[in-house]
Amino acid sequence: MAGAGAAEATPVLRSFTVPAGASTEVALSVNGQRHVVAVEPRVTLLDALRERLRLTGTKKGCDRGECGACTVLVDGERIKSCLTLAVMAQDVEVTTIEGLARGEDLHPVQEAFIRHDAFQCGACTPGQIMSAVACINEGHAGSDAQIREWMSGNLCRCAAYQNIVAAVADAAHGSRR
Ligand code: FES
Ligand code: FES
Repeated sequence: MAGAGAAEATPVLRSFTVPAGASTEVALSVNGQRHVVAVEPRVTLLDALRERLRLTGTKKGCDRGECGACTVLVDGERIKSCLTLAVMAQDVEVTTIEGLARGEDLHPVQEAFIRHDAFQCGACTPGQIMSAVACINEGHAGSDAQIREWMSGNLCRCAAYQNIVAAVADAAHGSRR
């Protein structure tokens, strides 16, 4: 209800003011675990994940928002972590590729990628998988054309696209091997 007293929609990522050049403690919730790291305001979420938390499954490709290799989920929505500052990622739940499996049980999208050999060098694969998880959850995996459109922010230099589309469709709709 949009009447008086209704809560405003909470932004996924909030702005955060830190004096230039200073480090600040940032509390990050990643894969269900809380971490506190000291970072300068300019440090991206991608670098905080890889270099401070040693979660190197998230890859750095272009480092400027073009390739999708750094895709992670923030409160279930996909973002490019190279375009997100670590200080902006407080009070949200970050999920990386390391957080998808449940013990020995891979996520269905991970299983589908293996089943369809949807990776070659694998550099883009973590980002592709994170994006695929969100793509399916968004309801954007209804057809191959729709999958291509909604996965188009993730580039694969090995051109494993056919197999990636097949894997996403498989995970979304059941076996199509
Ligand atoms: S590394 Fe973030 S989009 Fe390429
Ligand atoms: S599998 Fe090599 S970049 Fe995609």
